[in-house]
Amino acid sequence: MKCKFCDKPAVIKLRAYNLKLCGEHFTSFIEQRVEKTIKKYRLFTKNDRILVGISGGKDSLNTIYILNKLGYKTEGLYIDLGIGDYSKHSKEKAIAFTEKFDIPIHIYEIKKDFGLGITEISMLLRRKPCSVCGVIKRYILNKFAYENGFTVLATGHNLDDEVATLFSNVLSWQEGYLARQDILLPRKHDKLVKKVKPLALISEKESAAYAILKQIDYIREECPNAKGATSIFYKNILNQIEEKQPSTKLRFYLDFIRRGKKFFEKALKEREDALHSCKVCGYPTTREVCQYCTIKNEVQKRSG
Ligand code: FES
Ligand code: ZN
Ligand code: ZN
Repeated sequence: MKCKFCDKPAVIKLRAYNLKLCGEHFTSFIEQRVEKTIKKYRLFTKNDRILVGISGGKDSLNTIYILNKLGYKTEGLYIDLGIGDYSKHSKEKAIAFTEKFDIPIHIYEIKKDFGLGITEISMLLRRKPCSVCGVIKRYILNKFAYENGFTVLATGHNLDDEVATLFSNVLSWQEGYLARQDILLPRKHDKLVKKVKPLALISEKESAAYAILKQIDYIREECPNAKGATSIFYKNILNQIEEKQPSTKLRFYLDFIRRGKKFFEKALKEREDALHSCKVCGYPTTREVCQYCTIKNEVQKRSG
């Protein structure tokens, strides 16, 4: 099997694009695709200061690596969630990566805010760890970006993440979530930083291959709280569909962005109209007190 663009042997077959590529042409294909996504969806420009949320996983490390390589101004933020060995290992990977490629990194420990890690907080509040974690991560990423003068917040969501979320939201017709699913989420409040997903059109498999070829060492273990997660189940189903009908995932996602999303404009407008400042911290929320402040208050009350 030969590369489509040169005489070298192909190392990967991309069925969704009907392409076989050597290592070099594959990595430049991915970089060009990310650059195209940035331009087409007007994610940011070379004038922006971009904060990338990095978890130590392949997608977030690839995101900051590629943006850096393409000449964008980027810094990483690693949030230490205090989840035992998983956090310890992922933090080591994130730090080793930024040292190897000379990329600035900031570290935020949630234990400083709560005195506890995600698993203990969720047990204390009797809530699912992933939902508590999602609220806390989103809040800290946005707050850190806002307070430190970043104009864009980038995350490493890949195509498989996006499609699994879309699939799940369609199955239960979550209008509010569908309205907000996109590659770019604009700034709709003074203290809300624009959010972007530069890897949204890159599949999980492509992202893993890119990291390996670029010798980006990432954490392979899953968060222990993700075991049995519905999103993993959906990803497996979607992979089975993709196996039979290559490029279904990409088409499903892009068609939603191009043609499906507009049907949820009313839900989007309703949410935007409901956004105001949290009465405790001043950051955006649709409630009186934002979810982050509510969690913080409950933790303080219960841990006495
Ligand atoms: Fe948040 Fe696992 S990474 S609960
Ligand atoms: Zn080649
Ligand atoms: Zn608040």
